[in-house]
Amino acid sequence: MAEKNNILFDTDTFSKLNSFLKKGKYSRLIVLADSNTVTECYPILAKNCAAIQKADILEIDSGEAFKTLDTCKELWETLSEARVDKNSLLINVGGGVVTDIGGFVASVYKRGIDFIHIPTSLLAMADASVGGKCGVDLNSLKNQLGTITQAKGIFINSVFLGTLSQRHLANGIAEILKMGLIADAKLVKAMQDNKTELDTLIKKNVALKMAIVKKDPHDKGVRKILNFGHTAGHAIESCFMGTEDELLHGEAIAIGMLIESIIAFDKKMIKTNELQTVIDLIKPNYTVMEFSEAEQEKIKELMLHDKKNKNDTIRMSLITKIGACKFNVEVNVAQIQKAFKTYHLIIGA
Ligand SMILES: NC(=O)c1ccc[n+]([C@@H]2O[C@H](COP(=O)([O-])OP(=O)(O)OC[C@H]3O[C@@H](n4cnc5c(N)ncnc54)[C@H](O)[C@@H]3O)[C@@H](O)[C@H]2O)c1
Ligand SMILES: [Zn+2]
Repeated sequence: MAEKNNILFDTDTFSKLNSFLKKGKYSRLIVLADSNTVTECYPILAKNCAAIQKADILEIDSGEAFKTLDTCKELWETLSEARVDKNSLLINVGGGVVTDIGGFVASVYKRGIDFIHIPTSLLAMADASVGGKCGVDLNSLKNQLGTITQAKGIFINSVFLGTLSQRHLANGIAEILKMGLIADAKLVKAMQDNKTELDTLIKKNVALKMAIVKKDPHDKGVRKILNFGHTAGHAIESCFMGTEDELLHGEAIAIGMLIESIIAFDKKMIKTNELQTVIDLIKPNYTVMEFSEAEQEKIKELMLHDKKNKNDTIRMSLITKIGACKFNVEVNVAQIQKAFKTYHLIIGA
């Protein structure tokens, strides 16, 4: 059993979960799942972990559109009406949306009740369930409300990936790719070779993320390198949220990494061959969409939002080679605009 702090993974996670729940002396167990994970994942859990069978189940609609304060309010009301007390445990069974919402709901309810994560998507196993960040979107702005609160346990078992679509697998791969690009050239090489098992990629990603989070749990310094691809990526994700071109988080981050690598190249932080490596990893594997002038304008505004400094510059995390990243790099509007032009040339638009 690989154990990193409170993170457990292996085929043995269900029995570890069982003993955790039995030992925990919690007054109530509440499972939070979404409309997919309640049918695809909860039955697997209930079959393999007797202690979870006595949990009450709360179900939310699936998808980023429901990662809102309204969903949280409904959950808080339900918990309160059901007189769920401070010694209860919230068990989040789902992808990153469920772990983000569940962590936030638990960290605020009665000033904080314990919660654990049982991530079921690749993205949540490798990334979202780890590190303590939780929260919700505010209108079209991603993750504007939230806390950094650590789960009491994270039980990772890749058995759940059996029902995950190819699109959602690629979605999770994008975050693992990001980790390689910012922190581990060997991981990038392994992904290029495409021979490494998903379990190994998940473990590697979790270990790398935990090492960074431990150095800077409150996101004041080095943890910001995890935001590589996310300044542009979040803006792109927000721009298309609720439209027919809506992108998954990892899909938007993949495009974001390409645009931000172009900025790094223009700032002479990376060389041509390094930019080419990023292009080769992203262009064939993700939908690199074309952006109209109006969309580019909207994305640029979203990127500048609340991060604007003097002279219309923002601070970004940009790679300095394959496997290294620098945070707080100043980027101006002209550099962003130029990167969009180059991006369109690269994708052949
Ligand atoms: N807190 C963090 O550190 C962090 C890091 C990265 C991403 N995130 C957040 O994570 C979210 C994206 O996570 P996600 O991609 O997991 O989204 P998600 O939770 O919406 O899951 C994706 C879809 O897959 C379904 N699903 C999940 N597991 C399944 C399974 N085993 N079988 C079948 N269907 C399954 C879900 O119902 C959903 O429809 C975003 O909101 C992003 O902002 C948070
Ligand atoms: Zn992300």
